Amino acid sequence: MIFTVAIDGPAAAGKGTISRAVAAHFGFAHLDTGLLYRAVGAKGGDPVEAARNLTEGDLGRDDLRTLEAGQAASRVAVIPEVRAALVTFQRGFARREGGAVLDGRDIGTVICPEAEVKLFVTASAQVRAHRRWLEVGGDEAQVLAEVIERDKRDADRAVSPLKAAEDALVLDTSAMTIDAAVAAAVAEVRRRLAKE
Ligand code: DC
Repeated sequence: MIFTVAIDGPAAAGKGTISRAVAAHFGFAHLDTGLLYRAVGAKGGDPVEAARNLTEGDLGRDDLRTLEAGQAASRVAVIPEVRAALVTFQRGFARREGGAVLDGRDIGTVICPEAEVKLFVTASAQVRAHRRWLEVGGDEAQVLAEVIERDKRDADRAVSPLKAAEDALVLDTSAMTIDAAVAAAVAEVRRRLAKE
């Protein structure tokens, strides 16, 4: 069975948690596409070359989750050649046998517009910054400033900007528990799977 769940949204909206839970629930493979951009940003040197030559080892680095790696990822993600170099791998993953969940910014709009389920997971910038701050610590105002800066760069870029696909189900998790958000996502996938 080919079945793709595309989960897009801004930083720290809950995409990762929801994606992992949906993949585990249905036995689908999961790809966190942000990790690809983080690995390209962290590698240094020419980002286009880094994207073209990305290896498993690059994705396994343990410093990809930091705020700095997120900012570096957001900066290399505006380069069209970087995005182009990562398309084939993501499309192949999305249409693999057995079902796949991909989370990112442009999965439902550019990578896999034919995805069977599209979710756009969002939350207010304050709520997302607070969640990120609980994970990384430091100065909460600084974390909020970084979230807002990254949102703006991701949404304003010319190629594949962050935006909800027209046919995406929007899930605002600002006032939702993670369990409720996961339940809503699982229900949407189940509803669509029933039609297969
Ligand atoms: O989801 P994340 O925070 O790990 O993503 C890091 C950055 O990578 C994000 O700010 C923008 C970029 N990105 C992208 O442009 N397209 C994707 N599909 C995923 C991430």
